[in-house]
Amino acid sequence: MQNLIHKLAASHSLEIQEYEFLIKNRNDEAAKLLRKLADKTRREIYGTDVYVRGLIEISNICCNDCLYCGIRRSNTNCERYRLTPEQILSCADEGYELGFRTFVLQGGEDSFFTDDVLGGIVREIKSHHSDCAVTLSMGERSFESYKFLRECGADRYLLRHETADKEHYSKLHPASMSFENRIQCLYELRSLGYQVGCGFMVESPFQTEKNLAQDLKFIEEFKPDMCGIGPFIPHKETPFKNFPAGTVELTCYLLSIIRLIHPPVLLPATTALGTIHPTGRELGIMSGANVVMPNLSPVNVRKKYELYDNKICTGEESAQCRGCLSNRMKKIGYEIVTARGDVKS
Ligand code: 5AD
Ligand code: FES
Repeated sequence: MQNLIHKLAASHSLEIQEYEFLIKNRNDEAAKLLRKLADKTRREIYGTDVYVRGLIEISNICCNDCLYCGIRRSNTNCERYRLTPEQILSCADEGYELGFRTFVLQGGEDSFFTDDVLGGIVREIKSHHSDCAVTLSMGERSFESYKFLRECGADRYLLRHETADKEHYSKLHPASMSFENRIQCLYELRSLGYQVGCGFMVESPFQTEKNLAQDLKFIEEFKPDMCGIGPFIPHKETPFKNFPAGTVELTCYLLSIIRLIHPPVLLPATTALGTIHPTGRELGIMSGANVVMPNLSPVNVRKKYELYDNKICTGEESAQCRGCLSNRMKKIGYEIVTARGDVKS
């Protein structure tokens, strides 16, 4: 194990079977070594800076039916909402005042957000705040659409690949969705000059250690600018309601490995990680993550954007997530910075 870990830290690459071995045979000692090397690697590039992204959940209306997701089309108990362009702009204005320089517009695949509508919103944000980055996380769209949105000023795009194994992909998604298209979208986004984020859930239903090794190999090859990983958490109104949630332990272990695979990657300690453990995000940062994404959505819609059960930061107390996270990061010796936080090379 020790040898493998040092090989990974030095060469940023392992064979698939070696990744699988690293996952299958993990223990406290290995986790500790990975954490130490990942933290060192991250500090060499980013110091103790933690970047913040203001997350605006613009719509929970979705035409897709992913089996794990609480806002899937088939969930008729989900109270649907959509922010107006004016509401989205005022979230961004408010966020700007709070010191955010990146806004992430995330939503379901909602046909209201045509290229003209979404592009118009991106243009407005960029014209009000030319020093900010706009990140989109709006699912699969056509090449032409991605191209148009890029021309409107979008800088980055998050599209988790969800799993790098085609067969596993088909167990998490309805037959109408295709693994090939998902991956193709990622390559198209990259070709258009976006900074691109992929990612996956940890311990999603039917996931094997081999699948995780495939995810790591995909990350090694694709070299995403960002990589979002968080534990799977069941949602009570989905077919996966009885599957167990993923663990902090394995999520943090993988965060460390991903930092070593691709040192400059922007790696968030996700809200899902904060949901399964009271200090999950802190543990994520200490394992090699360097991004947090506080919620900037209007407080009255936050509960409705429920991808999984018991999501944190949805109550009145969370109106000030940025302050909360600043304190949390300070306590563990890291500092939230006001900067666009582009990927370093
Ligand atoms: N548990 C954890 N993460 C989830 N996501 C969707 N549903 C869940 C869930 N039940 C993640 C997916 C998606 C991202 C926006 O949220 O990976 O890409
Ligand atoms: Fe949202 Fe702490 S980060 S309440």
